[in-house]
Amino acid sequence: MTGSIWHPYTQMSEWKSFPNIVKGNGFWLVDSNGNRYLDGVASMWCNVWGHSKRELVSTINSQSKKIIHSSLFNLTNDQAETLAKKLVKISPGMNKVFYSDNGSTAMEIAFKIAIQYWQNIGQKNKTMFATLQNGYHGDTFGTMSVGFVPSFFAKFRKNMYKTIQIPFENSYRVSNIDEYYSQTLNKIEKQLSKNHTIAAFIMESGAQIAGGVNIYKDRFQSAISKICKKYNVLFILDEIATGFGRLGSLVEYKTQKSTPDIVAFGKMLTAGYLPMAATLVSKEIYDSFLGEYGQMKHLYHGHTFTGNTMACAVASKNLDMYQKTKLISKVNQSAIHLQKRLEEFWQIDAVGDIRHKGMLAAIELVSDRTKKTPISFAKSTNKIIFDEAKKHKIYLRTLGNIVMIIPPLAIPQKDLDFLIDGTIQTVKNVSKQL
Ligand SMILES: Cc1ncc(COP(=O)(O)O)c(C=O)c1O
Repeated sequence: MTGSIWHPYTQMSEWKSFPNIVKGNGFWLVDSNGNRYLDGVASMWCNVWGHSKRELVSTINSQSKKIIHSSLFNLTNDQAETLAKKLVKISPGMNKVFYSDNGSTAMEIAFKIAIQYWQNIGQKNKTMFATLQNGYHGDTFGTMSVGFVPSFFAKFRKNMYKTIQIPFENSYRVSNIDEYYSQTLNKIEKQLSKNHTIAAFIMESGAQIAGGVNIYKDRFQSAISKICKKYNVLFILDEIATGFGRLGSLVEYKTQKSTPDIVAFGKMLTAGYLPMAATLVSKEIYDSFLGEYGQMKHLYHGHTFTGNTMACAVASKNLDMYQKTKLISKVNQSAIHLQKRLEEFWQIDAVGDIRHKGMLAAIELVSDRTKKTPISFAKSTNKIIFDEAKKHKIYLRTLGNIVMIIPPLAIPQKDLDFLIDGTIQTVKNVSKQL
């Protein structure tokens, strides 16, 4: 029997019980029966250094002795101030930081800021958002309306607000990729040139992940940023999953040569130790919110835990550790190894495509390589893969028919090899059931 918890994105009737994780040991999770699982999911794409990292634990401990939570309503605190300075420093073009506690709210904040920015400067008609199909920005109504993944959210469609969704298929299912990308850019330009109500164009930075792992071609994102500038539309980037090293860059929009007006970070911001996200804005955006109180230009938004001292302290330490250990160059070395080893998956017939960048790998499973038909079972593919992976002492969570390898960034090669070996074995065994 399962307990009293309703688990996320889970058909509860499929599960008799869940492994009960009682501790973390480096890159491993340990359950109450003493079973160990290598964390191939980076605990939902956020863990950086493995679990119970001494420096981070001691930062949390020592901060907890000073103050655990103090708010940013009428007050400030050194931990939030220091982190904000560091975030602005690493993020070209950004000037101020608004804190929240998860990626969805960080994106909601970005949307609200964008709408109000136009009102603040007297352009009240700019209220529409444009985006690419299959983007994902979270599970709240605002973020579902923008990042509409049909398989997740179709049931809520009627309750969402209207957005412009530019068709954008996964490259795997496109026959001429160059042509497709240029057509997509044309469609974006057409929309932005004719529709003067568009407040912002919103997209994930570097790759769409939850909507099916679609890694952008070079210069695509920068081309979109240029179109936005040309037509006076704000450019909002979501780096919740792709920032802080996942794709081999600390700030992915620098690699993509596309400076946004607003950007959101989350997940790995605190190394995955405490819940926090941040929305950063340019000086131009921020300045538009300044004025006399009676003008009501200020932002009506705030959360109980906005600027939580513990989360800010651990995020600040995390960023220092990225720099001190040169983590990003290590990530790029690990990424080369990962890429080489991914080739081994091709020996399995069910593998239709392998997509990879940095420490993100997606292995798409199909029942027919030519037709690219996604594999399907009576039970959820996730459950089947999870159960099999457990036998190989690894923790995997698939996205439908896509097996993801998303380890903590600092994973040593020995553990990475263990994870890859286990994933190969898992996919092999599961595909025999087809
Ligand atoms: C790109 C992106 N944006 C936003 C979110 C939402 O973040 P959270 O789950 O912290 O609300 C996610 C979560 O996976 C994400 O991948």
